[in-house]
Amino acid sequence: MTAPVAGASTPQLQGSPEIALTGATGFIGTTLITHLTNAGWRVRALYRPRSGRVPPNLPGVEWFAGDLNDAAALNTLVTGTHAVIHCAGAVRGASRADFDQVNEDGALRVSQAAARQVHTPRFLLISSLAARMPELSHYAGSKWRGESAIKATAENLRWTVLRPPAVYGPGDRELLPLFRSIANGFAPLPAGANGRFSMIYVEDLAVAVVCWLTEDTGYGQTFELDDGRVGGYNWDAVLEIGGRVLRGGASVRRVPIPIPLLNLAAYTNLAAARLLGYAPMLTPGKVREITHEDWLCDNREFTQVTGWQPAFGLEQGLSLIFNKNIATLQEIL
Ligand SMILES: NC(=O)c1ccc[n+]([C@@H]2O[C@H](COP(=O)([O-])OP(=O)(O)OC[C@H]3O[C@@H](n4cnc5c(N)ncnc54)[C@H](OP(=O)(O)O)[C@@H]3O)[C@@H](O)[C@H]2O)c1
Repeated sequence: MTAPVAGASTPQLQGSPEIALTGATGFIGTTLITHLTNAGWRVRALYRPRSGRVPPNLPGVEWFAGDLNDAAALNTLVTGTHAVIHCAGAVRGASRADFDQVNEDGALRVSQAAARQVHTPRFLLISSLAARMPELSHYAGSKWRGESAIKATAENLRWTVLRPPAVYGPGDRELLPLFRSIANGFAPLPAGANGRFSMIYVEDLAVAVVCWLTEDTGYGQTFELDDGRVGGYNWDAVLEIGGRVLRGGASVRRVPIPIPLLNLAAYTNLAAARLLGYAPMLTPGKVREITHEDWLCDNREFTQVTGWQPAFGLEQGLSLIFNKNIATLQEIL
């Protein structure tokens, strides 16, 4: 559990209404809990019980055991709440079904539970910018289908969809390995990858969610949001900033991985995952995602509607990850 940092100022709330949160045990959900409770919300958080797992005892948080395929547990979770933040999602998987069961069917079940309440809670879906390109991968398609499912759930559901781009911060498992390599002076990247992409620091995303709650607005709308850097990033920019923040200005060597080799690794990993039964991150679909040329977005619309402003660019975000605590620094190095 991380403490919010100076710069990402969380709007404060009068009273103490309850909200339901799924995905509370994940990378983004963990930061969300901190910001929501700091803003005065009482959080009913879903967790999947498993052997040895004891959810942390946190002020303002009540834990509910359950899975997204358990309609009764979801009904209990959302009962009496003012809003539902649906952040749970599958970010790894071997098949379309792996993703759809969670990102489409799960989203539908949570939204149906919300719509069934006498006082229908407001509903926020944490989708992904990937939903903009559903044909690219099973993940992207499932996020798009999840959005469609919640939009079609019921007329009385006041839904909003947020589509973050790449989210990074303490606890992230996708970009942290790259930052670790950058800190060590090299960066394995797809050969010729030249696309532009937006990013967002996890604390800024959490503050955006609190702003949505506080402003009580944006229903029936889908928003993209990023860190506000005009034109986003390309890998050269990430390596330049990473070299400056993580290496005191020393250069970072780009190690090009030929795309056929990356695909070979992805197909091998996918086959191994199917054989051994684990959820793979590197798959052919993931390669198509990371080599896609345009993951740029901007937050003007969301800012206009909620007043939210991002506080951290990559430079600040990386500095924070490093200075945040010694454990994180040691983890990176
Ligand atoms: N990270 C990014 O860069 C990024 C970018 C854009 C959008 N997003 C979206 O943000 C959301 C959270 O992502 P994350 O990076 O925080 O992922 P994460 O660290 O893998 O967390 C996923 C969360 O969803 C929960 N979950 C998964 N399947 C579930 C199920 N069947 N029933 C109940 N809970 C389930 C997980 O519970 P367990 O702890 O039990 O596994 C965990 O709490 C996802 O919807 C993702 O698509 C992420």
